[in-house]
Amino acid sequence: MAMSWVGFGSVYLLTGLFLGGLRSCNGGISSSYFRSNDISDDMPLSSDVFAVPPGYNAPQQVTPNEPGSSKVIYWAELKKHAVGTFVTYKYYNYSSPYLHHCTIKNLEYNTKYFYKVGTREATRQFWFTTPPEVGPDVPYTFGLIGDLGQTFDSNRTLTHYESNPAKGQTVLFVGDLSYADKYPLHDNNRWDSWGRFVERNVAYQPWIWSAGNHEIDFLPQYGEGEPFKPCTHRYFVPFEASGSTSPLWYSIKRASAYIIVISSYSTYGVSTPQYKWLMKELPKVNRSKTPWLIVVMHCPLYSTYAHHYMEGETMRVMYEQYFVKYKVDVIFSGHVHAYERTERVSNIAYNIENCFCAPRNDEFTPVYITIGDGGNQEGLLYEMVDPQPKYSAFREPSHGHATFEIKNRTTAYYAWHRNLDGYSVEADSLWFHNLYWKSSSAVASF
Ligand SMILES: [Fe+2]
Repeated sequence: MAMSWVGFGSVYLLTGLFLGGLRSCNGGISSSYFRSNDISDDMPLSSDVFAVPPGYNAPQQVTPNEPGSSKVIYWAELKKHAVGTFVTYKYYNYSSPYLHHCTIKNLEYNTKYFYKVGTREATRQFWFTTPPEVGPDVPYTFGLIGDLGQTFDSNRTLTHYESNPAKGQTVLFVGDLSYADKYPLHDNNRWDSWGRFVERNVAYQPWIWSAGNHEIDFLPQYGEGEPFKPCTHRYFVPFEASGSTSPLWYSIKRASAYIIVISSYSTYGVSTPQYKWLMKELPKVNRSKTPWLIVVMHCPLYSTYAHHYMEGETMRVMYEQYFVKYKVDVIFSGHVHAYERTERVSNIAYNIENCFCAPRNDEFTPVYITIGDGGNQEGLLYEMVDPQPKYSAFREPSHGHATFEIKNRTTAYYAWHRNLDGYSVEADSLWFHNLYWKSSSAVASF
């Protein structure tokens, strides 16, 4: 990264050792990989990753601190500019800095742009590469990060993602960003420090946000009764473009993928805005243009860890039938501070009377992946449902991140990377065969 003021806290000795796992007679693999049981603290505010850049009103978190200018100068060749806007908010006794937001339109596909923000006193320059034009065979690599926080483990996770030879182009973030709510009165200075921490990646590639429980920031006894206030003021998403009425659920198209983000902590029952939107959204997806259908939410619908066990059950009862019907390829979640991948299973046959309550293998249903292992101050979760249920293919409480590499319309490669390994080591992996094309060829050959 070009910014000298952002340093990496430490250099970590990494090994490529993988001890494999133990296969239970009931389910998949519960990894026996050994890891430290220590809970990592938040990095102190004096850490270099939180440093405020030098210069009066110098941009931080990719935004100037004070009113200054919301102008962004950008260029691939000829310099242009776009003017944005800014917002501020108060949270109990905290006043936010000026949070500048600017949308740049009419960019070329697949082009590296430099951009500059700030005022005359102090400007800073970054760059990003625009995505390729949407098309069914366009390769693209997503990173998956969740429940990141701002501990020493969080720093390791981000470093591993940045150093992964798979080179993620966009992060699908599965919720729980800063964990500022772990501090008295949800000290929002920890939202600022988190913004400075992740700037080294967020300034250079898109992060697609989904909201977790640590974004709710609900403190009505102190006058803070507006849920998601800090998060939604800081991290704008293009929800209106997909006909959504809330930044908490929306969709984007990217290369050959259609990404749907939904909110575990907003109402989702029949007749709610989120339900109505999703029911319109799923049939809209044109799989011959964007064959890969990916859903992102915070709370997993399938998890076999004891903590948070079945918290996603009511949403599963509501939505799993539609994810199966519309052949969603994969559903990424966080919340559970560990890693897990399921078999392709369905539990939609179950109603409260028929006893079909065990998820059944079905090759045309989504894979569910929990990637809540980013490394926040709450630490990892070790207690699991025992014996391992059949629908759980691989589970391990280690910190890490994942990548989802789309090769073409039919094939994608998924890999999970744990922080304790070398940058290129894959601790779990799976080839994905696109469900839309797989089921089409199954019908054709019938
Ligand atoms: Fe969570």
